[in-house]
Amino acid sequence: MSSKILIIGACGQIGSELTTRLRSIYGNDNVIASDINYNNLDVVNSGIFEIVDAQDYGSIKICVEKYQIDTIYLMAAMLSATGEKYPMKAWDLNMDSLFHVLNLAKDGFIKRVFWPSSIAVFGPTTPKVNTPQHTIMEPSTVYGITKQVGERWCEYYFNKYGVDVRSIRYPGIISWKTLPGGGTTDYAVDIYHKALADGTYECFLSEETELPMMFMDDAINATVDLMQADAEKLTIRSSYNVAAISFTPAVLAEEIKKHLPDFSISYNPDFRQAIADSWPKSIDDSIARSDWNWSHSFDMSKMTEEMLTNLAKIQSEKDAN
Ligand code: SER
Repeated sequence: MSSKILIIGACGQIGSELTTRLRSIYGNDNVIASDINYNNLDVVNSGIFEIVDAQDYGSIKICVEKYQIDTIYLMAAMLSATGEKYPMKAWDLNMDSLFHVLNLAKDGFIKRVFWPSSIAVFGPTTPKVNTPQHTIMEPSTVYGITKQVGERWCEYYFNKYGVDVRSIRYPGIISWKTLPGGGTTDYAVDIYHKALADGTYECFLSEETELPMMFMDDAINATVDLMQADAEKLTIRSSYNVAAISFTPAVLAEEIKKHLPDFSISYNPDFRQAIADSWPKSIDDSIARSDWNWSHSFDMSKMTEEMLTNLAKIQSEKDAN
């Protein structure tokens, strides 16, 4: 499937690595990266880059027409922890941007949309273990509300207007290239940075808080595989459950200690504890596995090796300069 792609939010944690992968598949000239600022120079300097404000329909449309874009990956969003501080800003950013992109597809300017949803669509009344695709969804965070409502609109645009929109409920995403920002699962990235830099980490979640997580390479594979899947095979047009690993801060700390025996962790839960407590511990992703052959390849030990090796390499390069 030949494609002219626009990534909105390309400087962020997932957007930046998605840009690299999509450029390697579709060619540098066919993948336009965009964001509201120049915050990630690797992304800005590695191909075509445009400033696009996801909340401004005109700003997106100009870019779509300039490059004859047919597919948009909308990766800009305000995540769960920041969303609790700025509820209306989170609502406006997350919903405005989605409507702009869905409407561009409905009006025939683009053909395909990828939009990420999240485990945050689930809430305190959702079954927590092996959470099914179809279940009670009463999210208690603003971020979760935007994602749940967004899912409903995606399905609506598919059913009513034939918009080819595809979506994944990402769990916490763990990566070493670009830091996450404003999420509740961010501890699982911070912990590696602090383990190497300081040998100790104060965790903002309690030691027994189990959450679904995924290494970045798996998340990018899931995204690309879903977008390349035959439309007829897709039975879900709201958003697919996907899963890889689930663990608590205490278990992750033990894994890190296998590499850094002196590493220590302490716990000082803050407002993010309540957010984490409202989310599932593990996810049933059997529909994604059967519809488009989703499978993950990173377990906790492989992920930890990858994180520590790469972060240590970056640190030693910095020290050498
Ligand atoms: N990683 C996100 C967050 O913590 C969940 O989708 O907000």
